Amino acid sequence: MGQFIVQFPKDFLWGGATAANQIEGAFDVAGKGLSAADFIEYIPKHERTKDNAMEITSEQIREALSGESFRRYPKREGNDFYHRYKEDIALLAEMGFKAFRLSIHWSRIFPNGYDDTPNEAGLQFYDNVFNELAKYNIEPVVTLSHYETPYGLTEKYNGWVGRETINHFVRYAETVFTRYKDKVKYWMSFNEINIMTISPYTGGGILSDKEKNPVQAKYQALHHQFVASSLATKKLHEIVPDGKMGCMLASMIHYPNTPNPVDVLKAKQENQSNQFYTDVQARGEYPKYMKRFFAENDIEIVKETGDDEILKQYTVDYISFSYYMSVLSSESPEGEVTEGNLHNGLKNPYLEASEWGWQIDPIGLRVVLNELYDRYQLPLFIVENGLGAYDRVETDGSIHDDYRIDYLKKHIEQMKEAIGDGVDLMGYLAWGPIDLVSMSTSEMSKRYGFVYVDKDDEGIGTLERIRKDSFFWYKKVIASNGEAL
Ligand code: BG6
Repeated sequence: MGQFIVQFPKDFLWGGATAANQIEGAFDVAGKGLSAADFIEYIPKHERTKDNAMEITSEQIREALSGESFRRYPKREGNDFYHRYKEDIALLAEMGFKAFRLSIHWSRIFPNGYDDTPNEAGLQFYDNVFNELAKYNIEPVVTLSHYETPYGLTEKYNGWVGRETINHFVRYAETVFTRYKDKVKYWMSFNEINIMTISPYTGGGILSDKEKNPVQAKYQALHHQFVASSLATKKLHEIVPDGKMGCMLASMIHYPNTPNPVDVLKAKQENQSNQFYTDVQARGEYPKYMKRFFAENDIEIVKETGDDEILKQYTVDYISFSYYMSVLSSESPEGEVTEGNLHNGLKNPYLEASEWGWQIDPIGLRVVLNELYDRYQLPLFIVENGLGAYDRVETDGSIHDDYRIDYLKKHIEQMKEAIGDGVDLMGYLAWGPIDLVSMSTSEMSKRYGFVYVDKDDEGIGTLERIRKDSFFWYKKVIASNGEAL
């Protein structure tokens, strides 16, 4: 058999990814307003259901605002990056990071979302962070909105249901592009834009109990995000000529449960309903299969004149996505269901799962990379991947997370294979390089990091940072540009 040598590109962006609401803390410091994430309660495992962990009701908002709530809101605390960013960035630099993904907490810049002028202290904070990254030649990759819709917009317009939110978002985008034009080149508009139809509160600051027709409302809100993302892309290209805007999708690959054509068709349809978001953002129009879906489900997207042209004209420069797992599709309701990132599906007997039931499928990453590249022919960027696991600190202070190394190694190997298949891949950002608050469960004990943070689910701990075995492993991976796995 002949040999085909594959290497990672020289300028490959190795690094890690975070979100403001999961790391910063300091939720009411220096003029920051409240955001959607600040209302998400910690729910102990035995009380948690798929719905109560991520969706919030008007009643919960009232309780939180009353000041009489006995609940904990871990995303208000994060891992204290706001105060420790210098120490944290030094740790990333020690691992040799080429890129670091973070989001700007929108309500730090516009406390209510609809304010006329930005909050200088908020802008200054990110200047400090970008300056610190520049000291170590770490490229910032910035998400404009990672589940952080300002609460003011929820109050006034029910978040992204209101068309007005588009203008407020575009003003915010223009403000940060102008301020950071010499510091940030890579941007993303909405994190995992497909979350809107799964958890409208998380994705769009929407209180579904306020809507007569919540299904209609969430697709309308999504349309507003599509338009807002395109308008932000337009602004970015005007303000930062070499700036690059990416869309961001939670890739959720579905395999047919059996070779029965009805299952194959079902998997195809479920994959399409996930690709829909990227079809709009990369190809610039609503695909026909969604027009059919809208008609069959009595959904009517209200568009303004010019919306279609905006979507067509200002498409994204690259496609970024998160990848954690794959699921099975079946027409038959039988079969064991497994948990997952935003989504669950049938259990695959060929795969193992994490302690949270997310199925581990490195080859699925190669499949996703090939599918996305075949479909769009645009550069791809893996901006999240990793294993959420319980870690144990040994008596000598070491943390032997060989399970995490194994997970990452297998995914990086498949990523390399995909590059060999011809995929144009810009970089790889592992999720949560320094332990952070879990998005779906608000736990600290669901850890992704190369660096351990001493804090537990009840919020107790010194916040000390400790290097895990994976820290030293990832450092070697980066230094060898992916050769030493
Ligand atoms: C992605 C999100 O869906 O998955 C992140 O963009 C999130 O915000 C990550 O943290 C991992 O999910 P979880 O629920 O384990 O934190």
